[in-house]
Amino acid sequence: MRNIGPDEMKQLLAAPIFRQIGQTADELGVECYVVGGYVRDLFLERPSQDIDCVVVGSGIEVAEALGRKLGREAHISVFRNFGTAQVKYHHTEIEFVGARRESYSHDSRKPIVEDGTLEDDLDRRDFTINALAVCLNYARFGELVDRFGGLLDLEEGIIATPLDPDITFSDDPLRMMRCIRFATQLNFRIEDETQEALSRNAERIKIISQERIVEELNKIILSPVPSLGFIELSRCGLLALILPELAAMEGVEVRNGRAHKDNFYHTLEVLDNVARTDNGQLWLRWAALLHDIGKPRSKKWENGVGWTFHNHNYIGQKMVSPLFRRMKLPLDERLEYVKKLVGLHMRPIVIADEEVTDSAVRRLLFEAGEDIDDLMILCEADITSKNQQRKQQFLDNFQMVRQKLVDLQARDNYRTWTNPITGEEIMQTFGIPPCREVGLLKQAIKDAIWDSRIPNDHDAARTFMLETAQQMGLHEVEK
Ligand code: CTP
Repeated sequence: MRNIGPDEMKQLLAAPIFRQIGQTADELGVECYVVGGYVRDLFLERPSQDIDCVVVGSGIEVAEALGRKLGREAHISVFRNFGTAQVKYHHTEIEFVGARRESYSHDSRKPIVEDGTLEDDLDRRDFTINALAVCLNYARFGELVDRFGGLLDLEEGIIATPLDPDITFSDDPLRMMRCIRFATQLNFRIEDETQEALSRNAERIKIISQERIVEELNKIILSPVPSLGFIELSRCGLLALILPELAAMEGVEVRNGRAHKDNFYHTLEVLDNVARTDNGQLWLRWAALLHDIGKPRSKKWENGVGWTFHNHNYIGQKMVSPLFRRMKLPLDERLEYVKKLVGLHMRPIVIADEEVTDSAVRRLLFEAGEDIDDLMILCEADITSKNQQRKQQFLDNFQMVRQKLVDLQARDNYRTWTNPITGEEIMQTFGIPPCREVGLLKQAIKDAIWDSRIPNDHDAARTFMLETAQQMGLHEVEK
C-alpha cells in the first residue's frame, strides 16, 4: 500500500472532474465526498473508473447541476426510487447518492432508509477499508475522513467491519462473500472477530440471490490464489451452503491403515495450479474446481486394492448441469465446456500412464476438439503427487502426449474429423433402412481408421466397409 499525504491526495484528485464536483457542491451549499472503493483503490494503486460520491443532502441535485456544468458530453441517469443518479462523462462513471442512515429488518434485504450524516453513511458500509471518504468541497479539498482506522487496516492487510460484525453481516449477508472475496483478491487477513461472525451468520446467506453469490464467487475464483478464499469459505461454513458438492470432498477416511488423499485440498491445489497458468480463464478454473466432485459418490474400499474412485469423472460430469442450474450459472456453451473437461480429465493421465499410442491420442483429440489445450492444462495441474519421481514420470509422458498431439494435428486434423462413409452411403449400398447395422458399420470404420489399420480416405474405407458388411451377412445391392 502507498502512504498518501494531504498534498499528494490533491494531486491524485487532479483530474478536473473532482474540482468540478466540489464546485457544484459548494454552489448548492452541500458537502460532497468521494467514498468507498475508489478511495481504497487510490491507496492500493489499482486504477478505477467508477467514482462513488456521497452528498450530505441530495445526490440527485448535485448530479443534475454537474450535468449542466459539463454540457452535452455528460449523460445523466436519475434513479428517483433509490435516490441516486449517475453521470457518465467520457470514460468515467460517477454515482451520486445522498448520505443515508439504513436499518434492515431481519428477514428481508430491503432496508429502511432515512437521510443521514456522512458519519451515518460511513457507519453502514461493509469494511473499514471501504469506509474511507475524501472531501471534494473547496475549503477541505483532499481531506481524508477515516472513522474506523481503514488506512491502518489497508497498511496491515486486514479486513474488518466498521461496526459489530454481527450487525454488518446480518444487515446484508452478501457482505460475508465480499469479506472473503476482498481477503482473497488482496491477500488480506480477516480480523478475528469478523471471522467468528462469519461462522455465526453463515446461514443468513440463504436470503441472497444466487446471481449475487456467484458474482462474488467468480471474483474469488479469478483471484491470483483462489484456494485462500475456499479455505475461508469452508472454515466458516459458507461452502457447505453454497457449494455442498465441494464441501462433501473434505476429509480423509482411513481403513486398514490406508488413507485416501483429502480431495478438497487436492482440488484447491489443482485450482491454484490452473490459476498460475497463462490460460487461467474463469471456466477452466470452474472445471478445475469441479473436476473431482464425483469422488465422494464413487468412493469405495476394495479389499486387496484399497480406495478406488471408479468412473468419478463421468459421475462428476453428470453433476455439473444440476449444479449450474441451481447456482444460476450460464446454461450455454460454457456449461458444455465444463462438463466436457470434467468428463475427460482422466483421459490424458490414463494415456500417459500406459504406452502413448497414436490411436489413443487421436481419440482424445477428437473428443476434446477445440478444448484440447485447456484439457491438457487441467490434467497437468491435476498432478499433485508428492512423490517427485512419479510426478516427473507423468510430466515426461505428458510431454510425449503433447508432442503426439502436435504431430497428429499436422498429419490429419482429427479435431474436425468426419467419417469418409456416411450413413446414407451405407443404406444405399446394402439397401437397408436406418437400423443398428448402419451404426455398427460406421463405428467399425471409425475404429479402423483411428487405430491406423486403414488409411483415412474414402476408397480404403469403402473396401473395409464391404468386407466387414459381408461378415455381418449384408450384401451389396445391384445399382
Ligand atoms: N458496499 C457495502 N456493502 C455492500 C456493497 C457495497 O457497504 N454489500 C459499499 C462499500 O463501501 C463499497 C461501496 O459500497 O466500497 C461500493 O460498492 P461496490 O462498487 O460494489 O464495490 P467496490 O468496493 O467498489 O469494489 P469492487 O469494484 O471490487 O466490487
